[in-house]
Amino acid sequence: MLMKKLMVALGDRSYPIYIGSGLLNQEQLYTQHIKSKQVIVITNSTIAPLYLDQVLNNLQNFTVETLILPDGEQFKTLDYVTQIFDKLLSCKFSRNATLIALGGGVIGDMGGFCAACYQRGIAFIQIPTSLLAQVDSSVGGKTGVNHPLGKNMIGAFYQPLCVIADADVLNTLDDRQLSAGLAEVIKYGLIRDIEFFEWLEQNIELLLARDKAALAFAIERSCLNKAQIVAEDETETGIRATLNLGHTFGHAIETGTGYGTYLHGEAVSIGTCQAADLSRRKGWLTDADVERIIALFKKANLPVKPPEQLDSDQFLELMAVDKKNIDGNIRLILLTAIGAATLPVGIDALLLEQTLKSYSR
Ligand code: NAD
Ligand code: GLY
Repeated sequence: MLMKKLMVALGDRSYPIYIGSGLLNQEQLYTQHIKSKQVIVITNSTIAPLYLDQVLNNLQNFTVETLILPDGEQFKTLDYVTQIFDKLLSCKFSRNATLIALGGGVIGDMGGFCAACYQRGIAFIQIPTSLLAQVDSSVGGKTGVNHPLGKNMIGAFYQPLCVIADADVLNTLDDRQLSAGLAEVIKYGLIRDIEFFEWLEQNIELLLARDKAALAFAIERSCLNKAQIVAEDETETGIRATLNLGHTFGHAIETGTGYGTYLHGEAVSIGTCQAADLSRRKGWLTDADVERIIALFKKANLPVKPPEQLDSDQFLELMAVDKKNIDGNIRLILLTAIGAATLPVGIDALLLEQTLKSYSR
């Protein structure tokens, strides 16, 4: 077993992120964190046949329930969270129980939200299986579900006991999902890690070819960046907001086209190109910077143009529902350079409209 351990430093709620190969079968990784007899594993219909048995093999000394949810962003709703509560209650799970979320960001976000709410909080372990979940969503304690009027609008901050990121599971992830995960990887380079951005420019083909060493490096470097940001600003009063680069545009695309039409990472890719365009209009990025950013997303096989079906008025309406907004005014993360992001800034309506109009057509 090859393993790296990074810590998310949050005082007495600090926790490890285990990154490596063959981790799913390491019983001790699970058992050292589980302090209860009752354990529930939440997963979905795609992941269950692939990995559920491997996880359950490590839990033979526990009383284990499983819940297999349908697969898809469109099921990240309160209705499906209620199904998890129903299961926990019907199985008489106590407050000291442990919930394991085995899956991508959808299962991780929903499982974490249930763990935060069930009897006001039960123990929670993240086993992220998509690249996006391994580099972003499983780390940092953002949990929640979508609402028809806005992405991730219902949720809670709730940290896991540990994150077990086994890169071997990425072998079964399809190419489109792998690319979607790369959107969040590129984000770290853009907001705070120019060296990593340059490494990505050199190594994106290796990542797309699933080179093990390159993937391991990208996961570790992404988690390191995320762990540092979360340790500094757990509840997003400042720097954590920079992780939302491109997300306000992206969430508008996801909500406006119907959840699941664009993958989250695809919407973030487009949104980040829009944020780069707006940063150029502010005079902070050069034309060459913007071209370089777009080129990397394209090389990662990600879309860079917004859907034709969303016009600028629809974008503005959707962007008005965002957690960074204050008093209903849109605030965005922009770039002052490749490798440097702003905190949320109020936006000149004319410039935003120019980006929405010119970039999209
Ligand atoms: P996802 O959970 O829908 O997973 C993507 C697809 O890949 C699904 O069909 C899933 O079943 C499949 N899959 C996952 N792992 C697999 C594997 N190893 N083999 C085969 N198939 C596999 O989506 P995602 O991209 O993982 O996550 C996106 C979600 O995460 C969005 O809801 C987004 O809002 C959320 N998110 C949350 C945070 C956070 O901080 N909490 C950060 C970023 C994104
Ligand atoms: N994915 C954004 C955050 O965790 O803050």
